[in-house]
Amino acid sequence: MPVRRVLTGITTTGTPHLGNYVGAIRPAVRASVQPGVESFYFLADYHALVKCQEPERVQRSTLEIAATWLALGLDPEKVWFYRQSDIPEIPELTWFLGCVAAKGLLNRAHAYKAAVDANTQAGEDPDAGISLGLFNYPVLMAADILLFNAHEVPVGRDQIQHIEMARDMGQRFNHVYGGEYFTLPEARVDESTALLPGLDGRKMSKSYDNAIPLWLPAKDLRKAITGIVTNSQAPGEPKDPAASHLYTIYQAFADAGEAERMRRAYADGIAWGEAKQALYERIERELAPARERYQELVAHPARIEEVLRAGAAKARVRATPFMETLRGAVGLRKLSDPVARAAGTSRKGHAGPRFVQYREDGKFHFNLLDASGSRVAWSKAFDNPKEAADVMARLPREATFHERAILLGDEPVANIGPGEAAAKDVGDLLRAIASAAP
Ligand code: TRP
Repeated sequence: MPVRRVLTGITTTGTPHLGNYVGAIRPAVRASVQPGVESFYFLADYHALVKCQEPERVQRSTLEIAATWLALGLDPEKVWFYRQSDIPEIPELTWFLGCVAAKGLLNRAHAYKAAVDANTQAGEDPDAGISLGLFNYPVLMAADILLFNAHEVPVGRDQIQHIEMARDMGQRFNHVYGGEYFTLPEARVDESTALLPGLDGRKMSKSYDNAIPLWLPAKDLRKAITGIVTNSQAPGEPKDPAASHLYTIYQAFADAGEAERMRRAYADGIAWGEAKQALYERIERELAPARERYQELVAHPARIEEVLRAGAAKARVRATPFMETLRGAVGLRKLSDPVARAAGTSRKGHAGPRFVQYREDGKFHFNLLDASGSRVAWSKAFDNPKEAADVMARLPREATFHERAILLGDEPVANIGPGEAAAKDVGDLLRAIASAAP
Protein backbone atom coordinates (compact mmCIF):
# COMPACT_ATOMS: atom_id res chain seq x y z
CA MET A 1 0.00 0.00 0.00
CA PRO A 2 1.49 3.37 -0.91
CA VAL A 3 2.29 5.71 1.94
CA ARG A 4 -0.07 8.62 2.59
CA ARG A 5 1.47 11.80 3.87
CA VAL A 6 -0.64 13.81 6.26
CA LEU A 7 0.53 17.30 7.15
CA THR A 8 -0.78 20.11 9.28
CA GLY A 9 0.52 23.32 10.81
CA ILE A 10 -0.30 24.99 14.10
CA THR A 11 0.04 28.76 14.25
CA THR A 12 2.06 29.75 17.29
CA THR A 13 -0.04 32.48 18.80
CA GLY A 14 -1.86 31.85 22.06
CA THR A 15 -2.17 28.98 24.48
CA PRO A 16 -3.91 25.69 23.67
CA HIS A 17 -7.42 25.23 25.10
CA LEU A 18 -9.72 22.26 25.61
CA GLY A 19 -11.34 22.84 22.22
CA ASN A 20 -7.96 22.56 20.45
CA TYR A 21 -7.28 19.39 22.39
CA VAL A 22 -10.52 17.63 21.54
CA GLY A 23 -10.88 18.98 17.99
CA ALA A 24 -7.32 18.83 16.70
CA ILE A 25 -4.53 17.61 18.95
CA ARG A 26 -6.05 14.39 20.33
CA PRO A 27 -7.26 13.13 16.92
CA ALA A 28 -3.94 14.05 15.31
CA VAL A 29 -1.86 12.23 17.92
CA ARG A 30 -4.08 9.16 17.52
CA ALA A 31 -3.89 9.29 13.72
CA SER A 32 -0.12 9.63 13.79
CA VAL A 33 0.36 6.03 14.91
CA GLN A 34 -1.65 4.47 12.08
CA PRO A 35 0.33 2.24 9.75
CA GLY A 36 0.90 3.43 6.19
CA VAL A 37 0.81 7.08 7.20
CA GLU A 38 3.64 9.59 7.40
CA SER A 39 2.58 12.45 9.65
CA PHE A 40 4.04 15.94 9.44
CA TYR A 41 3.14 18.34 12.26
CA PHE A 42 4.83 21.68 12.45
CA LEU A 43 4.76 24.93 14.38
CA ALA A 44 3.78 27.63 11.91
CA ASP A 45 5.79 30.43 13.45
CA TYR A 46 6.24 32.38 10.21
CA HIS A 47 2.45 32.45 9.98
CA ALA A 48 2.31 33.67 13.57
CA LEU A 49 4.17 36.83 12.54
CA VAL A 50 1.26 37.80 10.31
CA LYS A 51 -1.08 37.96 13.30
CA CYS A 52 1.18 38.75 16.20
CA GLN A 53 3.98 41.25 16.52
CA GLU A 54 4.78 40.60 20.15
CA PRO A 55 8.06 38.66 20.10
CA GLU A 56 7.69 37.27 23.64
CA ARG A 57 4.27 35.92 22.82
CA VAL A 58 5.46 34.20 19.65
CA GLN A 59 8.32 32.57 21.55
CA ARG A 60 6.20 31.59 24.54
CA SER A 61 3.44 30.19 22.38
CA THR A 62 5.91 28.14 20.34
CA LEU A 63 7.26 26.66 23.55
CA GLU A 64 3.80 25.92 24.95
CA ILE A 65 2.44 24.39 21.79
CA ALA A 66 5.50 22.21 21.24
CA ALA A 67 5.38 21.06 24.89
CA THR A 68 1.66 20.35 24.54
CA TRP A 69 2.00 18.05 21.55
CA LEU A 70 4.92 16.20 23.13
CA ALA A 71 3.19 15.87 26.50
CA LEU A 72 0.12 14.44 24.78
CA GLY A 73 2.13 11.65 23.27
CA LEU A 74 3.26 12.77 19.84
CA ASP A 75 6.32 10.64 19.15
CA PRO A 76 8.97 12.66 17.29
CA GLU A 77 10.70 9.43 16.30
CA LYS A 78 7.62 8.27 14.50
CA VAL A 79 6.44 11.55 12.98
CA TRP A 80 8.01 14.66 11.47
CA PHE A 81 7.68 17.35 14.13
CA TYR A 82 9.43 20.61 13.36
CA ARG A 83 9.31 24.38 13.46
CA GLN A 84 8.57 26.13 10.18
CA SER A 85 11.30 28.75 10.65
CA ASP A 86 13.94 25.99 10.91
CA ILE A 87 13.26 24.96 7.31
CA PRO A 88 14.80 27.52 4.94
CA GLU A 89 13.35 25.62 1.98
CA ILE A 90 9.88 26.85 2.99
CA PRO A 91 10.48 30.58 2.34
CA GLU A 92 12.44 29.68 -0.79
CA LEU A 93 9.55 27.66 -2.16
CA THR A 94 7.20 30.46 -1.13
CA TRP A 95 9.01 32.68 -3.62
CA PHE A 96 8.84 30.09 -6.41
CA LEU A 97 5.12 29.62 -5.85
CA GLY A 98 4.53 33.35 -5.60
CA CYS A 99 5.94 33.60 -9.11
CA VAL A 100 3.35 31.21 -10.55
CA ALA A 101 0.40 32.21 -8.31
CA ALA A 102 -2.14 34.53 -9.90
CA LYS A 103 -2.53 37.72 -7.93
CA GLY A 104 -6.23 37.58 -8.73
CA LEU A 105 -6.45 34.23 -6.94
CA LEU A 106 -4.95 35.73 -3.79
CA ASN A 107 -7.27 38.74 -4.00
CA ARG A 108 -10.09 36.28 -3.33
CA ALA A 109 -8.63 34.79 -0.13
CA HIS A 110 -11.23 35.08 2.65
CA ALA A 111 -9.03 36.76 5.25
CA TYR A 112 -7.67 39.33 2.83
CA LYS A 113 -11.08 39.99 1.29
CA ALA A 114 -12.67 40.46 4.70
CA ALA A 115 -10.02 43.04 5.60
CA VAL A 116 -10.54 44.89 2.30
CA ASP A 117 -14.32 44.84 2.77
CA ALA A 118 -14.00 46.22 6.29
CA ASN A 119 -11.82 49.06 4.98
CA THR A 120 -14.21 49.85 2.14
CA GLN A 121 -17.15 49.91 4.55
CA ALA A 122 -15.27 52.29 6.80
CA GLY A 123 -14.55 54.55 3.83
CA GLU A 124 -10.82 53.91 4.04
CA ASP A 125 -8.31 53.01 1.38
CA PRO A 126 -9.07 49.34 0.52
CA ASP A 127 -5.59 48.18 1.57
CA ALA A 128 -5.29 50.33 4.68
CA GLY A 129 -3.40 48.51 7.41
CA ILE A 130 -3.12 45.30 5.38
CA SER A 131 0.39 43.82 5.31
CA LEU A 132 1.94 41.99 2.41
CA GLY A 133 2.34 39.11 4.88
CA LEU A 134 -1.43 38.80 5.22
CA PHE A 135 -1.86 38.88 1.45
CA ASN A 136 0.89 36.31 0.97
CA TYR A 137 -0.33 34.02 3.77
CA PRO A 138 -1.84 31.45 1.38
CA VAL A 139 1.39 31.22 -0.63
CA LEU A 140 3.44 30.48 2.49
CA MET A 141 0.88 27.88 3.47
CA ALA A 142 1.03 26.30 0.00
CA ALA A 143 4.81 26.04 0.38
CA ASP A 144 4.39 24.29 3.77
CA ILE A 145 2.18 21.70 2.16
CA LEU A 146 3.74 21.22 -1.27
CA LEU A 147 7.33 21.00 0.00
CA PHE A 148 6.51 17.66 1.62
CA ASN A 149 4.13 16.48 -1.09
CA ALA A 150 1.35 15.97 1.43
CA HIS A 151 -1.71 14.05 0.26
CA GLU A 152 -4.00 15.11 3.09
CA VAL A 153 -4.23 18.22 5.20
CA PRO A 154 -6.50 17.94 8.26
CA VAL A 155 -7.87 21.41 8.94
CA GLY A 156 -10.90 23.29 10.18
CA ARG A 157 -13.52 24.52 7.71
CA ASP A 158 -12.05 28.01 7.66
CA GLN A 159 -8.87 26.63 6.05
CA ILE A 160 -10.40 24.75 3.11
CA GLN A 161 -9.90 27.64 0.73
CA HIS A 162 -6.20 27.72 1.57
CA ILE A 163 -5.80 24.07 0.62
CA GLU A 164 -7.61 24.69 -2.65
CA MET A 165 -5.22 27.54 -3.34
CA ALA A 166 -2.26 25.26 -2.58
CA ARG A 167 -3.61 22.79 -5.14
CA ASP A 168 -3.96 25.58 -7.65
CA MET A 169 -0.39 26.77 -7.15
CA GLY A 170 0.99 23.22 -7.26
CA GLN A 171 -0.88 22.56 -10.47
CA ARG A 172 0.33 25.75 -12.09
CA PHE A 173 3.92 25.00 -11.17
CA ASN A 174 3.63 21.47 -12.55
CA HIS A 175 2.14 22.87 -15.73
CA VAL A 176 4.57 25.75 -16.24
CA TYR A 177 7.64 23.59 -15.66
CA GLY A 178 6.29 20.50 -17.35
CA GLY A 179 6.65 17.85 -14.64
CA GLU A 180 4.79 16.10 -11.86
CA TYR A 181 6.74 17.97 -9.22
CA PHE A 182 3.99 18.36 -6.67
CA THR A 183 1.37 16.07 -5.23
CA LEU A 184 -1.92 17.97 -5.17
CA PRO A 185 -3.17 18.03 -1.56
CA GLU A 186 -6.68 17.57 -0.28
CA ALA A 187 -8.26 19.17 2.75
CA ARG A 188 -9.62 16.75 5.30
CA VAL A 189 -12.32 18.20 7.50
CA ASP A 190 -13.33 15.66 10.07
CA GLU A 191 -17.02 16.11 10.74
CA SER A 192 -17.02 13.48 13.46
CA THR A 193 -14.59 15.20 15.83
CA ALA A 194 -16.36 17.06 18.54
CA LEU A 195 -16.88 20.80 18.32
CA LEU A 196 -16.54 21.81 21.92
CA PRO A 197 -18.80 24.51 23.34
CA GLY A 198 -17.10 27.12 25.50
CA LEU A 199 -18.10 28.66 28.81
CA ASP A 200 -21.00 30.56 27.21
CA GLY A 201 -22.19 27.70 24.99
CA ARG A 202 -20.84 29.14 21.74
CA LYS A 203 -18.02 27.24 20.02
CA MET A 204 -14.95 27.31 22.26
CA SER A 205 -12.60 29.85 20.73
CA LYS A 206 -9.97 32.30 21.83
CA SER A 207 -11.74 35.04 19.88
CA TYR A 208 -14.99 34.58 21.87
CA ASP A 209 -13.05 34.70 25.13
CA ASN A 210 -14.96 31.63 26.30
CA ALA A 211 -12.13 29.09 26.25
CA ILE A 212 -10.85 26.88 29.04
CA PRO A 213 -7.04 26.68 28.80
CA LEU A 214 -5.82 23.11 28.47
CA TRP A 215 -3.22 23.20 31.21
CA LEU A 216 -4.98 24.96 34.05
CA PRO A 217 -3.91 23.61 37.44
CA ALA A 218 -6.52 21.19 38.80
CA LYS A 219 -8.20 23.67 41.12
CA ASP A 220 -8.46 26.36 38.43
CA LEU A 221 -9.84 23.80 36.01
CA ARG A 222 -12.49 22.99 38.56
CA LYS A 223 -13.32 26.66 38.97
CA ALA A 224 -13.53 27.20 35.22
CA ILE A 225 -15.92 24.26 34.82
CA THR A 226 -18.13 25.67 37.55
CA GLY A 227 -18.49 28.73 35.31
CA ILE A 228 -20.02 26.85 32.34
CA VAL A 229 -23.56 28.13 31.70
CA THR A 230 -26.49 25.88 32.58
CA ASN A 231 -30.21 26.55 32.73
CA SER A 232 -32.08 27.11 35.99
CA GLN A 233 -33.47 23.60 36.43
CA ALA A 234 -33.39 22.51 40.06
CA PRO A 235 -31.79 19.34 41.48
CA GLY A 236 -34.17 16.43 41.04
CA GLU A 237 -35.76 17.80 37.87
CA PRO A 238 -35.11 15.49 34.88
CA LYS A 239 -32.70 17.18 32.43
CA ASP A 240 -32.18 16.85 28.71
CA PRO A 241 -28.54 15.96 27.93
CA ALA A 242 -28.97 16.98 24.28
CA ALA A 243 -29.74 20.54 25.42
CA SER A 244 -26.81 20.77 27.84
CA HIS A 245 -23.36 22.14 26.93
CA LEU A 246 -22.06 20.46 30.03
CA TYR A 247 -23.10 17.09 28.65
CA THR A 248 -21.64 17.86 25.20
CA ILE A 249 -18.29 18.51 26.83
CA TYR A 250 -18.59 15.41 29.03
CA GLN A 251 -19.27 13.28 26.00
CA ALA A 252 -16.11 14.51 24.28
CA PHE A 253 -14.09 12.93 27.07
CA ALA A 254 -16.18 9.91 28.04
CA ASP A 255 -16.35 6.45 26.51
CA ALA A 256 -19.71 5.05 25.39
CA GLY A 257 -20.51 3.43 28.75
CA GLU A 258 -19.71 6.55 30.74
CA ALA A 259 -21.78 8.70 28.40
CA GLU A 260 -24.74 6.34 28.73
CA ARG A 261 -24.54 6.41 32.55
CA MET A 262 -24.38 10.20 32.48
CA ARG A 263 -27.46 10.40 30.23
CA ARG A 264 -29.31 8.30 32.80
CA ALA A 265 -28.11 10.56 35.60
CA TYR A 266 -29.51 13.55 33.67
CA ALA A 267 -32.86 11.78 33.26
CA ASP A 268 -32.78 11.06 37.00
CA GLY A 269 -32.37 14.75 37.77
CA ILE A 270 -28.69 15.09 38.61
CA ALA A 271 -27.97 18.55 40.11
CA TRP A 272 -25.91 20.89 37.87
CA GLY A 273 -23.32 21.13 40.63
CA GLU A 274 -22.89 17.35 40.62
CA ALA A 275 -22.75 17.21 36.82
CA LYS A 276 -20.00 19.81 36.90
CA GLN A 277 -18.06 17.86 39.49
CA ALA A 278 -18.37 14.70 37.36
CA LEU A 279 -17.17 16.60 34.29
CA TYR A 280 -14.22 18.01 36.21
CA GLU A 281 -13.24 14.58 37.47
CA ARG A 282 -13.48 13.04 34.02
CA ILE A 283 -11.32 15.71 32.39
CA GLU A 284 -8.87 15.68 35.26
CA ARG A 285 -8.45 11.92 34.93
CA GLU A 286 -7.60 12.30 31.24
CA LEU A 287 -5.30 15.29 31.52
CA ALA A 288 -3.51 14.98 34.87
CA PRO A 289 -0.67 12.68 33.73
CA ALA A 290 -0.07 14.73 30.59
CA ARG A 291 -0.17 17.93 32.64
CA GLU A 292 2.75 16.68 34.69
CA ARG A 293 4.72 15.87 31.55
CA TYR A 294 3.80 19.28 30.15
CA GLN A 295 5.06 21.13 33.19
CA GLU A 296 8.27 19.15 33.17
CA LEU A 297 8.81 19.99 29.49
CA VAL A 298 8.02 23.69 29.79
CA ALA A 299 10.50 23.87 32.65
CA HIS A 300 13.21 22.55 30.31
CA PRO A 301 12.95 24.55 27.09
CA ALA A 302 16.39 23.40 25.93
CA ARG A 303 15.07 19.84 25.64
CA ILE A 304 12.24 20.98 23.43
CA GLU A 305 14.63 23.06 21.37
CA GLU A 306 16.69 19.93 20.79
CA VAL A 307 13.65 17.90 19.75
CA LEU A 308 12.65 20.59 17.26
CA ARG A 309 16.14 20.85 15.81
CA ALA A 310 16.29 17.10 15.33
CA GLY A 311 12.85 17.32 13.74
CA ALA A 312 14.04 19.97 11.32
CA ALA A 313 17.05 17.88 10.35
CA LYS A 314 14.75 14.94 9.70
CA ALA A 315 12.37 17.08 7.63
CA ARG A 316 15.22 18.53 5.62
CA VAL A 317 16.36 15.08 4.56
CA ARG A 318 13.27 15.33 2.36
CA ALA A 319 13.13 19.06 1.78
CA THR A 320 16.71 19.81 0.75
CA PRO A 321 17.06 17.42 -2.19
CA PHE A 322 13.52 18.14 -3.32
CA MET A 323 14.26 21.85 -3.30
CA GLU A 324 17.36 21.13 -5.35
CA THR A 325 15.14 19.45 -7.92
CA LEU A 326 12.83 22.44 -7.92
CA ARG A 327 15.72 24.87 -8.29
CA GLY A 328 16.81 22.88 -11.31
CA ALA A 329 13.28 22.88 -12.67
CA VAL A 330 12.98 26.65 -12.64
CA GLY A 331 16.49 27.19 -14.03
CA LEU A 332 18.42 28.16 -10.89
CA ARG A 333 21.24 25.84 -11.88
CA LYS A 334 24.95 25.65 -11.61
CA LEU A 335 26.31 27.14 -14.80
CA SER A 336 28.68 24.22 -15.25
CA ASP A 337 25.78 21.78 -14.98
CA PRO A 338 25.50 19.94 -18.31
CA VAL A 339 21.72 20.52 -18.42
CA ALA A 340 22.43 24.24 -18.86
CA ARG A 341 23.75 23.53 -22.34
CA ALA A 342 20.50 21.83 -23.26
CA ALA A 343 18.53 25.00 -22.54
CA GLY A 344 16.85 26.20 -25.69
CA THR A 345 17.18 22.84 -27.39
CA SER A 346 14.02 21.52 -25.77
CA ARG A 347 11.14 23.71 -24.70
CA LYS A 348 9.90 21.53 -21.94
CA GLY A 349 12.07 19.74 -19.43
CA HIS A 350 15.15 17.86 -20.47
CA ALA A 351 16.11 15.15 -22.86
CA GLY A 352 16.29 12.28 -20.41
CA PRO A 353 17.01 10.98 -16.94
CA ARG A 354 20.07 12.45 -15.27
CA PHE A 355 22.03 13.01 -12.09
CA VAL A 356 22.04 16.38 -10.35
CA GLN A 357 24.74 17.08 -7.80
CA TYR A 358 24.46 19.41 -4.84
CA ARG A 359 26.30 20.42 -1.74
CA GLU A 360 24.83 20.53 1.75
CA ASP A 361 26.53 21.18 5.10
CA GLY A 362 29.94 20.63 3.58
CA LYS A 363 29.02 17.22 2.11
CA PHE A 364 28.35 16.23 -1.49
CA HIS A 365 25.19 14.53 -2.70
CA PHE A 366 23.36 13.78 -5.90
CA ASN A 367 19.83 13.05 -7.01
CA LEU A 368 18.68 10.85 -9.83
CA LEU A 369 15.96 12.61 -11.82
CA ASP A 370 13.66 11.06 -14.36
CA ALA A 371 12.97 12.66 -17.75
CA SER A 372 10.35 14.97 -16.28
CA GLY A 373 12.79 16.24 -13.66
CA SER A 374 11.16 14.40 -10.73
CA ARG A 375 13.51 12.96 -8.17
CA VAL A 376 13.44 9.18 -8.03
CA ALA A 377 16.53 8.53 -5.89
CA TRP A 378 18.96 10.37 -3.65
CA SER A 379 22.49 9.56 -2.67
CA LYS A 380 24.17 9.33 0.67
CA ALA A 381 26.55 12.12 1.71
CA PHE A 382 30.05 12.01 0.22
CA ASP A 383 33.04 13.76 1.72
CA ASN A 384 34.28 15.14 -1.58
CA PRO A 385 32.88 15.77 -5.06
CA LYS A 386 35.26 13.27 -6.65
CA GLU A 387 33.77 10.38 -4.69
CA ALA A 388 30.27 11.45 -5.67
CA ALA A 389 31.30 11.78 -9.32
CA ASP A 390 32.89 8.31 -9.27
CA VAL A 391 29.70 6.77 -7.95
CA MET A 392 27.60 8.61 -10.56
CA ALA A 393 29.91 7.35 -13.28
CA ARG A 394 29.71 3.74 -12.13
CA LEU A 395 26.04 3.50 -11.19
CA PRO A 396 24.53 3.32 -14.71
CA ARG A 397 26.43 0.10 -15.46
CA GLU A 398 27.11 -1.42 -12.06
CA ALA A 399 24.13 -0.68 -9.81
CA THR A 400 22.37 -3.47 -7.96
CA PHE A 401 19.32 -3.14 -5.74
CA HIS A 402 18.25 -4.29 -2.34
CA GLU A 403 14.73 -3.19 -1.36
CA ARG A 404 14.85 0.64 -1.57
CA ALA A 405 18.64 0.85 -1.55
CA ILE A 406 20.91 1.18 -4.58
CA LEU A 407 24.24 -0.62 -4.14
CA LEU A 408 27.68 -0.63 -5.69
CA GLY A 409 29.10 -4.00 -4.71
CA ASP A 410 27.98 -4.40 -1.08
CA GLU A 411 27.82 -0.73 -0.34
CA PRO A 412 24.54 1.20 -0.27
CA VAL A 413 25.17 4.50 -2.05
CA ALA A 414 21.65 5.82 -2.66
CA ASN A 415 18.02 5.33 -1.78
CA ILE A 416 14.94 5.18 -3.94
CA GLY A 417 12.35 7.77 -3.03
CA PRO A 418 10.48 9.75 -1.92
CA GLY A 419 7.96 8.77 -4.61
CA GLU A 420 6.63 5.35 -5.51
CA ALA A 421 9.29 4.42 -8.11
CA ALA A 422 10.38 0.78 -7.90
CA ALA A 423 13.90 -0.65 -8.24
CA LYS A 424 12.93 -1.78 -11.73
CA ASP A 425 12.03 1.79 -12.80
CA VAL A 426 15.28 3.08 -11.39
CA GLY A 427 17.14 0.31 -13.21
CA ASP A 428 15.49 1.46 -16.47
CA LEU A 429 16.52 5.06 -15.86
CA LEU A 430 20.11 4.04 -15.14
CA ARG A 431 20.21 1.95 -18.31
CA ALA A 432 18.92 4.95 -20.25
CA ILE A 433 21.75 7.06 -18.83
CA ALA A 434 24.27 4.32 -19.65
CA SER A 435 23.14 4.09 -23.26
CA ALA A 436 23.09 7.89 -23.68
CA ALA A 437 26.67 8.22 -22.39
CA PRO A 438 29.35 8.61 -25.06
N1 TRP B 1 -3.29 28.55 8.57
C1 TRP B 1 -3.43 27.45 9.48
C2 TRP B 1 -4.37 27.86 10.63
O1 TRP B 1 -4.47 29.03 10.91
C3 TRP B 1 -2.10 27.01 10.05
C4 TRP B 1 -1.21 26.49 8.98
C5 TRP B 1 -0.07 27.06 8.49
C6 TRP B 1 -1.39 25.27 8.28
N2 TRP B 1 0.46 26.28 7.51
C7 TRP B 1 -0.31 25.18 7.35
C8 TRP B 1 -2.37 24.26 8.33
C9 TRP B 1 -0.21 24.11 6.48
C10 TRP B 1 -2.24 23.19 7.46
C11 TRP B 1 -1.18 23.11 6.54
O2 TRP B 1 -4.97 27.00 11.20
